[in-house]
This record gives sequence, C-alpha cells and structure tokens, in this order.
Amino acid sequence: MRPGGIGLWAGRPVRGKVGVRLALREGVPMDAKAVDDLLVGRRSVRLFRDAPLDEADLRRALEVAVWAPNHRRTEPWRFIVVRAETQRHLADRAGELKRLAHPRPDGPEAASVAVRAREELVAAAALLAVVQRVAEDPAVAMEDYASCALATDRALLALWARGVAGRWSTGGITRDEQTLALLGVGSGERLVFLCPLGYPAAVPTRPAPHPAESRTTWLN
Ligand SMILES: Cc1cc2nc3c(=O)[nH]c(=O)nc-3n(C[C@H](O)[C@H](O)[C@H](O)COP(=O)(O)O)c2cc1C
Repeated sequence: MRPGGIGLWAGRPVRGKVGVRLALREGVPMDAKAVDDLLVGRRSVRLFRDAPLDEADLRRALEVAVWAPNHRRTEPWRFIVVRAETQRHLADRAGELKRLAHPRPDGPEAASVAVRAREELVAAAALLAVVQRVAEDPAVAMEDYASCALATDRALLALWARGVAGRWSTGGITRDEQTLALLGVGSGERLVFLCPLGYPAAVPTRPAPHPAESRTTWLN
C-alpha cells in the first residue's frame, strides 16, 4: 500500500499513511489468536539446551525490536550481543558479585551461590545487553526507559516466535563498574537489561495473573 492509500488491518480497511506500517503482511488479515498466544505463552526461561544461537534469528528480532514505540522517536536503545570469551568474563563477574553480596562471602554457601550464578550465564547461547542513552531531562529519560523495555519485550517475543527463549535480568550486575567497562557502556548510558538467550531445555509455568477485568474501571 502506498502512503495515503487504503490497506487492510486485521481484515479492516485502514486509510492513510499509518496503514503502511500497520499491516504486517499487506492485505492479509492478521491471525489475532496467534498473536494472543505468543503474548500470553512467552515465558522467562533459565535452563537452556547446549545449542548455538541462530544469529539470523537474533538479527531479525532486533530489527523487529527497534519498531517499539518511542516518544519523539528518540530511539534511545543500543544492543550488545555478548558471546564466547566476553560472556565467560561476564559470568565470572556475576558469580563474584553474588559471592560478595552473600552475608558470609568466604563461606562454602557463598561459593556455591557464585557457581550457580556463573553457570546460569555461561549456559546461555548468548547474552543480550540493552543499553539506554540517558537523556539529561529526567522526563525524557523516564520515557526512554519505557521504550527500552518495550524494545526488549519485542525482541524476546520475536525470538520466542522463532523458538528462542530469554529472560530479563536487572540485578546488581547491570550497575557494576567492571561489567560496564567490559561491555563498553559509556558515560551517559545505562545498562538497563541483561537477557540470557538460548533454546529452552525446560519452560516454566506461571500462575495466571489477576484478570484485567478485576483491574479495569470503565467510565462513561
Ligand atoms: C523490568 C523487568 C525486570 C526484570 N528483572 C528480573 C531479574 O532481575 N531477575 C529475574 O529473574 N527476572 C526478572 N524479570 C522477569 C520477571 O521475573 C518475569 O517476567 C515474571 O516472573 C513473569 O514471568 P514470565 O516472563 O515467564 O511471564 C524482570 C522483568 C521485567 C519486566
């Protein structure tokens, strides 16, 4: 559909420029149930199979992610794909941070917590770091954070649709100076999310949330 023309959105005609971007596949009604199933069915996964990530899938998911809404089109994100040696260094650091955060950092319990934290990051096929360019205006920075979260969600959804799972991590590692230096996150930037990615070995269940109906007020 050309700008200004008429296209189809979920089978309904859409007029104007917007329609160009709305139609997922021109003229083909979207499968709403498939979209709903994707949105409801995606799970955060911790256990991954030992299989390399299809890079083409990750590249495609990130190209999808950058269509996330962002106010004033600030496009406040940057992505870092962490693999191999850098991933191992980062996992080492994650383990060390867990150990240091333990009440008895030199005890055996802290050591096993550290091993688990390290293993979790090493076992992923890759890590996706999402970096926000932090605007000076706090109001813009807040909106940009929202946009980074939306982009991350979309990347994870697009990956899920391709059989790749991930999960969010916002722990102390995202604020750790050594980690930021390792990844090359500069001043004026913030590492907002670190997402281990891979092909799931096990998909957890999740208790159903409270129905939206119980959280919704309809006003006339
Ligand atoms: C902004 C944000 C930050 C999160 N940070 C973490 C985290 O640090 N560690 C973690 O295990 N999960 C984290 N999660 C994942 C949530 O725990 C998870 O989405 C929630 O339990 C629902 O599970 P689901 O993703 O399988 O639907 C985060 C999610 C969001 C949206």
